[in-house]
Amino acid sequence: MIKLLSENNAGYISGQALSEKLGISRNAIWKHMKDLESDGYTIDAIRSKGYRIVSFPDKVSSNTIRWGLETKWLGHHIIHKESTPSTQLIGHESARENAPDGTIIIAEEQTAGRGRMKKNWFSDKEGLWTTILLRPPIPPNKASELTLLTAVALRDALHQLTNLSIGIKWPNDLLIGDKKLCGILTEMQGEQDRINYVLIGFGLNVNQDEASWDASIRNIATSLKIESGKDWDKKEVIQTILTYFENTYEMYLKDGFKVIKSKWEENAFKIGGEIKIKTFHDEWTGRFLGISDEGALIAEAADGSPVTLYSAEISW
Ligand code: BTN
Repeated sequence: MIKLLSENNAGYISGQALSEKLGISRNAIWKHMKDLESDGYTIDAIRSKGYRIVSFPDKVSSNTIRWGLETKWLGHHIIHKESTPSTQLIGHESARENAPDGTIIIAEEQTAGRGRMKKNWFSDKEGLWTTILLRPPIPPNKASELTLLTAVALRDALHQLTNLSIGIKWPNDLLIGDKKLCGILTEMQGEQDRINYVLIGFGLNVNQDEASWDASIRNIATSLKIESGKDWDKKEVIQTILTYFENTYEMYLKDGFKVIKSKWEENAFKIGGEIKIKTFHDEWTGRFLGISDEGALIAEAADGSPVTLYSAEISW
């Protein structure tokens, strides 16, 4: 419904045409219009012409994200929550209930947001907390490439939108300067040789002020607003991200990881420089050489030999 109305943005679309295209009764159309009105839309209804949306609400909802969304398939099914423990949890539930490839789950606030390494993820009302559900036709051992792909797509989208200089920290943080703007968490469900689904969750700080965080977060995090000095329309931010994500993901499915890898390396922090590497049993300093074809970190040890790491925390 919202897609048809947005395509007819300039003019009216008749109740008859809507009912034929959607295969539902005129009465059901009228009920939908009432729902949109209670969602904050102003609808002009003229008996001889039909319906036209005159203004839409300035808030994030499934309808407002869908309005003007330019993707071919990503985000055509949206689950939006005002407040929820974690969009990843809803992602798992929806996936089990057969939600389609490209479903997105967005929350205005999370009460038990999840970060990597079982850490908590602070999720107030000013950020964009989103999970993308994918059913990718790739083997499970390639799932980590999707995390790096997401970092590239998010960086490109946010750079295009804000012109801020955003870098990627291995494996999946977006930073401005040395502060974290966005974190990515990928969770997978599958069998040995087959992915059933992947949930790519990202937490992006959008309109937080420094004052909204206590010192423990303020020292390590930043937001689009802090860096640019202005508020951002979260709808526009998510729409831009979805468009970039869809393009990058389609390019990856067609051409493989190579292009993603070079885009990732172009924007990565500290390539060629010294980094501190912390693994479960070790801590050492080495030179960051780049990433492998599977997205693993390659660092040069003190004796000059390259070491490949699939899981580690890096800092500098
Ligand atoms: C990290 O530790 O850097 C990853 C943070 C990922 C946070 C996002 S917010 C949306 C989605 N839902 C969650 O509970 N976590 C991810």
